[in-house]
Amino acid sequence: MNDASGRPIRRAHVTGWGRYAPAQVLTNADLEKMVDTSDEWIRTRTGIRERRVAAANETTASMGAVAGLRAIHTAGIAPDDIDLILLATLTPDYWMPSTAALVKEAIGNTRATAFDVMAACSGFVYGFATAQAYIQAGLAKHVLVVGSELLTRFLDYTDRSTCILFGDGAGAVVLSASDEPGGALGVEMTTEPQGAYMIWLPAGGSKSPPSAETIARGEHYVRMEGNQTYRFATKTMATTALESIRRSGLEPADIDLFIPHQANIRIIEAVAKGLDLPMDKMFINLDRYGNTSAASVPIALAEAVNEGRVEIGDNVTIVAFGAGFTSGAVTIEWTADPARGRSADDAVRPEDVRVRLPVDWDSVDPIPDALADLMGQPGPVDVPLDDVAPGEPEHAHPHAEVPA
Ligand SMILES: CC(C)(COP(=O)(O)OP(=O)(O)OC[C@H]1O[C@@H](n2cnc3c(N)ncnc32)[C@H](O)[C@@H]1OP(=O)(O)O)[C@@H](O)C(=O)NCCC(=O)NCCS
Repeated sequence: MNDASGRPIRRAHVTGWGRYAPAQVLTNADLEKMVDTSDEWIRTRTGIRERRVAAANETTASMGAVAGLRAIHTAGIAPDDIDLILLATLTPDYWMPSTAALVKEAIGNTRATAFDVMAACSGFVYGFATAQAYIQAGLAKHVLVVGSELLTRFLDYTDRSTCILFGDGAGAVVLSASDEPGGALGVEMTTEPQGAYMIWLPAGGSKSPPSAETIARGEHYVRMEGNQTYRFATKTMATTALESIRRSGLEPADIDLFIPHQANIRIIEAVAKGLDLPMDKMFINLDRYGNTSAASVPIALAEAVNEGRVEIGDNVTIVAFGAGFTSGAVTIEWTADPARGRSADDAVRPEDVRVRLPVDWDSVDPIPDALADLMGQPGPVDVPLDDVAPGEPEHAHPHAEVPA
């Protein structure tokens, strides 16, 4: 297909996908021991049964790097073929540098532009749409879009209205330029700042820098007005998805599978009802991971494809909402062989992926006190600090060169 001036239209196809979930499971029964809640309340109000918790030596960058390398493995390219890395997160390793820069080094890439995307739980979809725009503009050939979150370190485990909802994990896709039809189609994104203080993390930014006082007030934890957020989510997820589908020249009945943000089963049921679709068109894995914010859509997408829920030629809509309020949806005509992703977990092992640490800086134990028993004996971060000399990036792990 050509554009108005006769040039072939560059399209963005999903060629790779991967995900990473930390090993430690936090069940509803575990939470019953921390706050006044019950497994029954959590399951019926949210659909969540358990979520994952990152270990002390894991970070947003390390999880993102594993998911990213798995997506690159699925795509059958080398890490250095990636020319843009977009990492969506609201829980970066540091305020600066970007977590995307750390992931670039950890995956053994030397040539990509890398930056973070911050749109809370919609971040991955915003990153996906940005990657599509870069590809269509001819600015990138292979883009790695990562959603990675380590929310368990930003939750108040005395606040039952938030701590039950969120978990850790990472997912990623590779988008590749192609002149072939299919790939990413219609995009819709919204930002509604009247919801700015409905989900927020008050302290740590320039308005309220971190201090003993902000910590004493618990302002370094996620806060949320659950009811208001719920109302926004049910309204916006359906309208945002519908707009993306219409911009693709399709109707909701043409969509084979929806990959909705995994926040709450009741929100997803409301979206299905709003679009007049059966629930079996909605992919669900929130029972096992809870809400992993920007990681939720790419984890769900990778699992849906690996489980055989997507076939070549299917129309898939990814849709998310989050703090801001933000929402985003992209409809995709699937063109990759779903079987390609199934070997990625074995090919890329988390223990082989390393994020370089600063020298002469001893991190505090990052595990929240409330989770210390669950995570075993709390101790220092167990990666040796003198592992890498400054200025000598560590690329020498077995997956730095993933074979084509
Ligand atoms: C948080 C959420 C599950 C709460 O469900 P809800 O049905 O709206 O419940 P409410 O907030 O009305 O609270 C009902 C009662 O349950 C209580 N409650 C809240 N959390 C509880 C918990 N974990 N266990 C037991 N009871 C709880 C409340 O205190 C309230 O008690 P009260 O009636 O005595 O005051 C729901 O509002 C939600 O999912 N909102 C969207 C959140 C979201 O998706 N955020 C992420 C956006 S990306």
